[in-house]
Amino acid sequence: MGSVSLKIGDGTARFKRASFCSSALNLLMLFSVVTTNLFALYAFTSSPKNHHALHLLPHTHKNISLISEQVSLILREIDSSQKKLAQMEKELLGYESIDLSTSKIASEVRTFLQHHLLPLGKDSKTGITEMVASVGHSCVKSLDLLSQYMNYKVNGPCPDDWSLGQKLILSGCEPLPRRRCFAKTIPKVGLQSFPDSLWKNYSEKIYSWSGLGCKNLACLNAKKLNRDCAGCFDIIRGYETQRYVKVRGKNDFLIDDVLAMLGNGGIRIGFDIGGGSGTFAARMAERNVTIVTATLNVDAPFNEFIAARGLFPLYLSLDHRFPFHDNVFDLVHAGNVLDVSGRPEKLEFLVFDIDRVLRAGGLFWLDNFLCSNEDKKTALTRLIERFGYKKLKWVVGEKINGSGKSEVYLSAVLQKPVRV
Ligand SMILES: *[C@@H]1O[C@H](CO)[C@@H](O)[C@H](O)[C@H]1NC(C)=O
Ligand SMILES: *[C@@H]1O[C@H](CO)[C@@H](O)[C@H](O)[C@H]1NC(C)=O
Ligand SMILES: *[C@@H]1O[C@H](CO)[C@@H](O)[C@H](O)[C@H]1NC(C)=O
Ligand SMILES: *[C@@H]1O[C@H](CO)[C@@H](O)[C@H](O)[C@H]1NC(C)=O
Repeated sequence: MGSVSLKIGDGTARFKRASFCSSALNLLMLFSVVTTNLFALYAFTSSPKNHHALHLLPHTHKNISLISEQVSLILREIDSSQKKLAQMEKELLGYESIDLSTSKIASEVRTFLQHHLLPLGKDSKTGITEMVASVGHSCVKSLDLLSQYMNYKVNGPCPDDWSLGQKLILSGCEPLPRRRCFAKTIPKVGLQSFPDSLWKNYSEKIYSWSGLGCKNLACLNAKKLNRDCAGCFDIIRGYETQRYVKVRGKNDFLIDDVLAMLGNGGIRIGFDIGGGSGTFAARMAERNVTIVTATLNVDAPFNEFIAARGLFPLYLSLDHRFPFHDNVFDLVHAGNVLDVSGRPEKLEFLVFDIDRVLRAGGLFWLDNFLCSNEDKKTALTRLIERFGYKKLKWVVGEKINGSGKSEVYLSAVLQKPVRV
């Protein structure tokens, strides 16, 4: 408003010395400057119900048509700025729909995404009139990769490019489009029947190693693939054989202790998020509990390994809404996958989705979550407390890591309340 007071001062100074005619002109100019600025202030600071700014108008003659002209001008400018902003936001987020007319796009993308009217008209049960294929909106940000992925011979063998598909998924292109080619098959020689399959060390030839750094199990077991999988492919001799049935520290809970916590039907079905090689599901399967294990194949053939054990792998990124209905699981188990980087809202969306799929009275088992700093612990604790879960177990413990440093871990078993 600095420029306004400057103009008023200037106008007033000249007003004193000027003739009647020019003072009337000055008065009009002064009036117009003041009203314009007041209305700009009003438009930008007030809600529609707040009319205080009108009372600030000077007691000079009010030219209503002039005022309304100015107001509509300001409103038009606000409207056009808002449109420009929305457009910029769209471009930044990649929300513009895929332009199927460009030559850049593979013809299979076009074929897959084209809408088709239902041959018999509107379906009476669903109200749907056309068949629509779905693809992640962020696919548009990776059009080159997408076109590469969709470039294949229809009815022929697909390129051995699952890792390209995963790259797309990791950049938000989820779901991927379907393809009309035959995915590479790998003979699954020597599979055992359930439950022997749970702890069987199969030939590594039954897994797909294309696009991976490691080409065998020995290589995987020598690596720390992630915080919840250090040597987790060794299910014959490794620590994996003791997980959930023997404790190493106070942050480890036993599966049998957790199962005993729940009455009312107990634990029958559950969801393990980021479940490594499927050992949690295997231990639960031995107790007749069905667990779905969500994991991608980042650096290792997690999905094939879990499936070979006779367990249910779910190939889904954490950015995707869980493909389950509300209130279905008795148990959700998660570890360091919850360590999502980025803005705090990202973790909130994830935890709300976990809460959604868990039934009232069901358990959320947070397993050895590394609190790399105090802020992370506080943020997660506050978030959990907002949900009003009953803390059946809550353990904050320290562990000495590979480089001799102390690290703080949080483990908890929380019971979802009945909300009304
Ligand atoms: C008000 O402003 C309009 C447009 O500038 C003008 O045509 C009209 O004569 C003015 N009326 C008065 C009463 O000053
Ligand atoms: C498991 O199988 C792999 C080969 O598939 C082999 O290298 C490894 O030694 C086996 N582990 C045990 C404990 O038998
Ligand atoms: C699992 O179910 C089978 C078949 O109903 C039963 O024989 C077995 O005792 C159950 N195991 C456990 C640990 O409950
Ligand atoms: C051990 O913890 C420290 C501090 O948190 C960290 O900088 C280091 O990378 C960790 N080392 C290993 C092997 O995890």
